[in-house]
Amino acid sequence: MKTGIKFILLSAVIATALAATPMEPRTRRPPNILVILADDLGIGDVGCYGNKTIRTPNIDRLAAEGVKLTHHLAAAPMCTPSRAAMMTARYPARYGLVPNERLETVVIPHISSKAALPLDEVTLATALKAANYTTALVGKWHLGMYCNLFGKSCPGPLKHGFDTFYGIPVTLFMEFRGPHSFWVFNLANTGFQRLAFTWLLSVVSLAFAKKKLQWRLSTLVFLLLLTHAVLFVLWFFTAHVGRDKGSLWGVSDWLHRAANSKLFRQDKVVESPIELDGLSQRLAAESRKFLADHAKDDKPFFLFYSLAHAHTPMFNAPNRERASKHGRYGDNVEEMDESIGTVLDSLKEFGLETNTLVYFTSDQGGHLEATDDEGQRIGGHNGLFKGGKAQGGPEGGIRVAGIYRWPGHLPSGAVVDTPTSLMDLMPTFLDLAGLPPLEELVPSAANKDLDGLSIADLLIHGDKSPPQERIMIHHCRQAIRALRLVRGDHIYKMYVGKVKWFEGSTQCGWGHTTGCFCYGDKFHLDISHAPELYDLAVDPYEDNPIEPDTDEYKKIVKFLRDYLKKWQESVYYPDPPMSNIVDVMWRPHYQPICWHC
Ligand SMILES: *[C@@H]1O[C@H](CO)[C@@H](O)[C@H](O)[C@H]1NC(C)=O
Ligand SMILES: *[C@@H]1O[C@H](CO)[C@@H](O)[C@H](O)[C@H]1NC(C)=O
Repeated sequence: MKTGIKFILLSAVIATALAATPMEPRTRRPPNILVILADDLGIGDVGCYGNKTIRTPNIDRLAAEGVKLTHHLAAAPMCTPSRAAMMTARYPARYGLVPNERLETVVIPHISSKAALPLDEVTLATALKAANYTTALVGKWHLGMYCNLFGKSCPGPLKHGFDTFYGIPVTLFMEFRGPHSFWVFNLANTGFQRLAFTWLLSVVSLAFAKKKLQWRLSTLVFLLLLTHAVLFVLWFFTAHVGRDKGSLWGVSDWLHRAANSKLFRQDKVVESPIELDGLSQRLAAESRKFLADHAKDDKPFFLFYSLAHAHTPMFNAPNRERASKHGRYGDNVEEMDESIGTVLDSLKEFGLETNTLVYFTSDQGGHLEATDDEGQRIGGHNGLFKGGKAQGGPEGGIRVAGIYRWPGHLPSGAVVDTPTSLMDLMPTFLDLAGLPPLEELVPSAANKDLDGLSIADLLIHGDKSPPQERIMIHHCRQAIRALRLVRGDHIYKMYVGKVKWFEGSTQCGWGHTTGCFCYGDKFHLDISHAPELYDLAVDPYEDNPIEPDTDEYKKIVKFLRDYLKKWQESVYYPDPPMSNIVDVMWRPHYQPICWHC
């Protein structure tokens, strides 16, 4: 019944749109889909979300022509789990693509790492491919590359429904700004002392043995070469691999760049190291080319344009240098907006604007702690929301920009304040595009519980009527840190665990790998015995917790605690591969090499 009404309404909207644009050929083809995903962009960095001094005209234009979501939430405050959730409509803890407390690793660190989105998870691309879409990923992936032995092929996104891939297999790391020294020998370090001693000992004993045993010179030379080869490997691992090297990543800066700064086309490396300056323009040009190539196809397309900005390190085309009022970070945001403009303009140019549904968001909030070597801030701003990337529950790390645009089908210039999630993407698209439900498109999805839901009604009609009751869970790694309850006019948020911010701030210091990461006993605070409760409908910035002796507190906290208990009893979280050193470490025998760079 409900779907029936929706269908009639949608048809009416479509009919009106078609009547209004008689040039549009009447076709039953579903719409094209363009997803634009920013990286680490704070909600406070965007013009249409209230920033008056940064220039993001293209994102602002999207909002003016579409529906702007003001309470849009990422399922995780880190790249890998948040992207996994967006692509699968499921909490990543359900399939272990989040670390637990055992390791420091926070995301998939290497192309050759074993950790990856399990192959039986169904992504938006898999679903759309099943619906006969042409599917492409341009830009960042970060959900595992599945390299085979010797890295001959690393199919990554091609294993999850994408026909084509051009872009960044893992993420951009600060270490990608080189050069770093390869020759390292630090005699203050016991590892190197041992090596020097072993070298001396072997050379002396070989020389001695030659004399005593009357070897031929060729034997000595052979044994010397062999010894040096073994010592070289030992030196390499001492200098570049080990838990103490790059803190979170387990390798030295040099090796990190050498192993992971690689641009892929399909399953092969085509550029190594990645030339960062101009990367943004290249990704935009690639997207534009995809649109040009498929504008006249009979099949619809799905383009996932996954931006390199505004993640660290900062880089931009030479003409964008110091173009903004906000330092290098501002330059990056403005360049990012410009590259979005290139793709939106291409849509228009190729006559694709009215039959393409566009969605824009960011995988998580700004990284508050990020600074470069000179101490300049290079992370995003989350407006008045507290906290940021990596923190779990706090609003600043998960409340992100979110815009849907589909001219003629969705209202323009509309604003929706009801809480929505990045996980709603897949169900919403299938619904809006009039495609069959997921389990019909991909039968193996039948046993997957989705955490996202279709917000098509909300997008079409706005949030005039009270929203459907909904509960969202906020994890930090695998642990549950907060619950959000949308009920009537209230948006309750209950914290059961919190990070410990540095005095007088909502962050944890400065530095490009610094963050309020919630592992070990370092930063997280167990407050499950006395949860903090807020009503974000009246207290959006979490300034005034509801008093524990009120009836409201008692009622809501009891309800949410019961829910949490039931959830933990009934939903299975597997042991995450990202917490196993073998699954995340650099594996030389799976390392892809660029043969033609
Ligand atoms: C606007 O964004 C810039 C760049 O991120 C930031 O420095 C500035 O503080 C923001 N302004 C506001 C009012 O949030
Ligand atoms: C996809 O194409 C096949 C073959 O043309 C067709 O049988 C199938 O119904 C199509 N699927 C959808 C969802 O349109």
